[in-house]
Amino acid sequence: MMFTKICTSASKVSNSLTTLRNIRSYPAVMSKFDLPTRLKGNEKSIWVEYIELTLKYKPLNLGQGFPDFHAPENVTKALAAAATSDNALLNQYTRGYGHPRLINILAKLYSKLLNRTLDPTNEILVTVGAYEALYATIQGHTNSGDEWIIMEPFFDCYVPMVKSANGIPRFIALKPKNTNGPLSSADWVFDRQELEGLFNEKTKGIIINTPHNPLGKVFTLDELQFIANLAKKWNTLVVSDEVYEWLVYEPYKHVRIASLPDMYERTITIGSAGKTFSVTGWKIGWAYGPAHLLYNLQVVHQNSVYTCATPLQEAVAIGFEQELERFDRPDCYFFSLARDLLPKRDYMAKLLSDVGMIPTIPEGGYFMVANWTTLRDKVRLEEETDENRDYRFTKWMTKNVGVLGIPPSAFYSREHKHLGEDNVRYCFIKKDENLKKASEILMKWKSQQ
Ligand SMILES: Cc1ncc(COP(=O)(O)O)c(C=O)c1O
Repeated sequence: MMFTKICTSASKVSNSLTTLRNIRSYPAVMSKFDLPTRLKGNEKSIWVEYIELTLKYKPLNLGQGFPDFHAPENVTKALAAAATSDNALLNQYTRGYGHPRLINILAKLYSKLLNRTLDPTNEILVTVGAYEALYATIQGHTNSGDEWIIMEPFFDCYVPMVKSANGIPRFIALKPKNTNGPLSSADWVFDRQELEGLFNEKTKGIIINTPHNPLGKVFTLDELQFIANLAKKWNTLVVSDEVYEWLVYEPYKHVRIASLPDMYERTITIGSAGKTFSVTGWKIGWAYGPAHLLYNLQVVHQNSVYTCATPLQEAVAIGFEQELERFDRPDCYFFSLARDLLPKRDYMAKLLSDVGMIPTIPEGGYFMVANWTTLRDKVRLEEETDENRDYRFTKWMTKNVGVLGIPPSAFYSREHKHLGEDNVRYCFIKKDENLKKASEILMKWKSQQ
């Protein structure tokens, strides 16, 4: 009994000593396992936050950019066929820099589009979505202190990627030329003098995105030529994020900056099978460009991801082979998807105008930004606590009205967030019935005010 008591009190003492030791050493242990400095400031992700909001409140989701309808049958069947093929190797590791069938067809496609011969082995890298292509490009081409020019609003991952590579983002905002009445994404322009002023000897490159997310802007030949001239003058790279290359609405045309004179040599272009074939969950992307620039991306890729899923690459390759065969026919998916989306774009523009917002009509992509401030008196922003008004607006609308949009200030640098606060971004690559539902919900809400 006594022995047990002694043991118990001894163990109590020793436990409390251990606890004390643990407490004493706690701060040291914590700082040892803190987020590394180069990742600090990158903790918040709009996608993580808004997916949680979706799961909790189950609104009609017009937020994240993906279709809510089936992908084209030819590519999904190609995936099933690849996974169940007699060729056992289609379920095993494939070539690290890209499955041979996929790089060959990508080289064929872009050789045709750029009117030059691309070497599939050295000028194309297959990645885990366009996301990894961006990551490998930025990691592979950034020395500490290198500056990257980024146009706002930007696809949100560019900035954390630059910062975690110890690079420095320099910002220039696209701004609407006029602020009254209906807007087109063509009205959103950059100030040429301001852009010129950002280039200097520390500039490693500029990241552009055309067709643009979230504005839908399709950069004109003249705008791209201006950017190209600056890149040549200052000997910088151009990273061209063209994941929406096939989503351009008549009469606009997508121009690849890599196709301009002397630009292929300094351009890395990024594409996405997720966006091309409406299979965002497949996460297959690529980068193409001259071998000496792609080499740096290969080094990052081989030491992180190494190789992408074989059956997915096989299926994407088959999809491309089939679309290239019918490239000149109206049923080619590259063109039919944009045709099918046009009425959805126009439906959404009308619906947002009917509710009282002022939409920017996109020339490309599948997002629409709209100025919501005319509805200011109908929403109780004070019920939300976020710093930026568009976060409060989108959260309040999700919880009280049941329609989710994305706050565009997430796509601006800290100092320019106010430029995005009056807008909301909606995605219109959704079934007609869901767009109709959005219209009914919003119109009912409007009539109750
Ligand atoms: C402009 C832009 N770039 C890159 C990506 C990422 O594409 P992926 O899904 O192929 O990684 C997206 C996805 O929404 C995007 O909008």
